[in-house]
Amino acid sequence: MEQKYAIILAAGKGTRMKSKLYKVLHEVSGKTMVEHVLTQVEKTNPTEIVTIVGHGADSVKAKLGKRSEYVLQEEQLGTGHAVLQAKDLLAGRKGTTIVLAGDTPLLTAETIANLFEYHEQRQSSATILTANAPDPTGYGRVIRNHIGVVERIVEQKDATPEEARVTEINTGTYAFDNELLFEALESVNTDNAQGEYYLPDVIEILKKQGHTVSAFQMDNFEDSLGVNDRVALAEANQIMKRRINKFHMTNGVTLIDPESTYIESDVVIGSDTIIEPNVMLKGKTVIGSDVFVGANSQIVDSTIEDNVKIRASVIEESIVRNGADVGPMAHLRPLADIGENAHVGNFVEVKKATLGQGSKAGHLSYIGDTVIGKEVNIGAGVIFVNYDGKNKYTSQVDDYAFIGSNANIINPVHVGKNGLVTAGSTITEDVPEEALSFGRAKQVNKDGYAPRYPHYKK
Ligand code: UD1
Ligand code: CA
Repeated sequence: MEQKYAIILAAGKGTRMKSKLYKVLHEVSGKTMVEHVLTQVEKTNPTEIVTIVGHGADSVKAKLGKRSEYVLQEEQLGTGHAVLQAKDLLAGRKGTTIVLAGDTPLLTAETIANLFEYHEQRQSSATILTANAPDPTGYGRVIRNHIGVVERIVEQKDATPEEARVTEINTGTYAFDNELLFEALESVNTDNAQGEYYLPDVIEILKKQGHTVSAFQMDNFEDSLGVNDRVALAEANQIMKRRINKFHMTNGVTLIDPESTYIESDVVIGSDTIIEPNVMLKGKTVIGSDVFVGANSQIVDSTIEDNVKIRASVIEESIVRNGADVGPMAHLRPLADIGENAHVGNFVEVKKATLGQGSKAGHLSYIGDTVIGKEVNIGAGVIFVNYDGKNKYTSQVDDYAFIGSNANIINPVHVGKNGLVTAGSTITEDVPEEALSFGRAKQVNKDGYAPRYPHYKK
C-alpha cells in the first residue's frame, strides 16, 4: 500500500492576531485550530503525522500529545522552510505527503480525502487544493496558463495588479510526491517581497522540472478559510457554529434560534431536546433526549440526563439526573449532583453537593459540601454554612428530612431520617432521626410597647 504522510504547519507566531496566545492555539467552537486540523487529518488515516512547532512549541505539543510527531522549527523563515524541517523524518521515503496549515480549522476530512484521491488518480507530483474566493485578498493566487494548466502560485504581496485580480486562491493544503517534495524544497529561495522560503514555490520548481502539477478546486471556499486575524477568527467561529448546529438539528434537536445558540465541538445532544435562544453548551457536555434548555442558560462540562428541564441557569461540571428541573437563575457549581426528579429553583446555588431523588430546594439557598438524601425539603433561604474561613466541612441530611426556611446548618451536622428543623433555626448539633429541632430564640411579646418607637403612626 502507498504510504501516506501528513505535515501540519504550526510554528508561526501569528503576528496579525495581536495576541499573547500563539495563533494555532486560538479556539474555534471550543477547540484549538490546530486540534481541528489534526482531528480531520486523523480521519484520513495517514501512516505518520508530523507537526512543525516553533512559537509556543510546548503548548502545542501539550495540546496534541501523542497524536502527532513533532519537529522544531527554531526560526520561522517561511512555510517552505517549515516543511523542510521534517526532512530527517520523511525525506527519501516513497509515498504521498499532505501538507496543511494549522490555521485552517474548517477544512474537513472529506476534502482532504478528495484532494488525495484526485492527486493519486492523476499521478501528479504535486496537487494544490484551491478554492474560488469572493474576496481573495491576503491569499496566494493560483496562476494558470492560457489552457488552464497550473503554472505557479503568487503571494498577495508579490502579485502584479493583474495577478491580484485572480480569484482562485491557494488554500495552503497540498498533496506532494514525498521524495520530490524534499528535493524541490532544497531549491526554494527567499527572493520575494517577504524574504521568506515559500512552500508554494515548490509548484513552479516541479513544473519547470517537467513534473505533473495539478490543482483540485474545492466547492466551498468557506471551508478553506485561513485564520490570520481576529476578524477571520470570528468568521471561522460563525461558520463552525452553523455547521455544528445543522448537525444537531439533523439529528433531531430543536434549536429555536440557531444563530444565537453556541454549541462547542464535542457536545453530545439527544433527540427531541429543545434549545431556546442565547444558550451556550460548552466543553464535554452531554445532554440527553427530551431535555428543555431554556433561554440564557450556560452549561459547561456537565451531564444532563433525559427529561430534564433547565431554565436560565449556569451549570458547571455537574450532573442533573432524569426528570429533574433547574432554575430559573440557579447556579450549579462543580460536583453538584441533582437526583432524579429533584428540583432546584430560583437563586439556588449548589456546590459539591448531592440532592437525592425527588428532593427540593426551591428558593434562595446555598447548598455546599453536603449530601442530601431523597425527598428532602430544603425551605427558602436555607444556608449550609460550609466554611469557617479556613476549612470546609460537610453535612449529611437523610431521606424525608424537612429543613425549614431560613435555617442555617453549620457544617458538619447530620440530620437523621425524617428529622425536622424549624424555620429560622441555626443548627450546630446533629438532629436525630424523627426529631423536631429548634435552634432559635423564643419569641417574647411586650404588650403596648409599639407606640414608643418612631415608626408608630396614629
Ligand atoms: C499561506 C500561503 C498562501 C495561502 C494561505 C492559505 C505561503 C507562502 N503562503 O499564506 O499562498 O493562500 O497560506 O491560508 O505559504 N508557518 C510555520 N513556519 C513558518 C511560517 C508559517 O510553521 O515559518 C505556519 C503558520 O503557523 C501557519 C501556516 O504555516 O499555520 C501558514 O502560515 P501563514 O503565515 O499563516 O501563511 P499565509 O500568509 O496565510
Ligand atoms: Ca494563514
